[in-house]
Amino acid sequence: LIAVFSHDSMEALQEDDEQKGLSDQIVIKFSHVVAENTPKGLAAEKFAELIAKRTDGKIKVEIFPNEIMYSDEQELAALKRGDVQMIAPSYSKMTEVIPEWQVLDLPFLFRSEEHVETVYTGEIGQRLLSKLEDENMKGLALWGNGFKQMTSSSGTLIQPEDFAGQRFRIMPSDTIAKQFELLGGIPKAASFNDVYIALEGNEFDGQENTISNIYSKGFYRLQKNMTLSNHGYLGYSVLMNKEFWNSLDPELQIHIEKAMNDTTKWMLSESKEMNETQLRRMRENSKLGIHELSPDERKEWQKVFQPLYQSYTERYGDEWIEDIRKAGK
Ligand code: LMR
Repeated sequence: LIAVFSHDSMEALQEDDEQKGLSDQIVIKFSHVVAENTPKGLAAEKFAELIAKRTDGKIKVEIFPNEIMYSDEQELAALKRGDVQMIAPSYSKMTEVIPEWQVLDLPFLFRSEEHVETVYTGEIGQRLLSKLEDENMKGLALWGNGFKQMTSSSGTLIQPEDFAGQRFRIMPSDTIAKQFELLGGIPKAASFNDVYIALEGNEFDGQENTISNIYSKGFYRLQKNMTLSNHGYLGYSVLMNKEFWNSLDPELQIHIEKAMNDTTKWMLSESKEMNETQLRRMRENSKLGIHELSPDERKEWQKVFQPLYQSYTERYGDEWIEDIRKAGK
């Protein structure tokens, strides 16, 4: 059984468990910011299901979606305090803590879903996650949502010039901010669950996100145009509080690692399918104008983005870029 909570049910459930004498059960509170019907929402549920089954209920994963427990800005501090045991923020949001991870935000770095999977689940993924050791967190996996698309309510976004003067909501990431600045746009970071209201209130003209986030949060209802640009990839670092991890028996740690690997594989194919289905739904049932970026148009964007690669290399060297590019060939 998987539990997905609302605020009100939280306390009641704790009391319930105590009454049933389940106090020796280990509870992992897993807080995230997206809707349940998304790659991350479903992966969290899958992980909870696998863990419950494989540990005979010894470990219970309680899931708190939609920022009901912690917002984007609060969740990392809550994890470090140990108030929550698991979170899965986008790696873009972690770049303040681990600046080298900005490599993952470089536009057009990933060639395909298969390329992403090779990087995330292989040796490079392990090396990226090991950067968390210094930050006193256990990195369990990199999860994928999908490629990001551009949307706007103030005109099409096809030529780089189209972005001029438009205000874009971004995740807090220097690379993403610079990406929009290079296009002549005006980026500003905002918490994920504030995006709908901000778009509705005309605080932003547009934003970038995956199909499943654009669909599940209803952004498409407020935007006039979407360009299928696949320019960047939205992925997550699945994090656990280090002290909590260290407190677990090795046998349980192995269960967690195995369940996490199986979940990651499952979600990478599930997210691809989900993004495809939801794109079809938007095509059929919404007024959103959808443009697919042509190879020539993509080249124009790539030219504009070139300085991002230069500045990354100047600061952090070209090792990560080269390793990722070579992967899966
Ligand atoms: C966003 O803020 O746009 C995304 O990181 C939300 C998410 O977690 O998918």
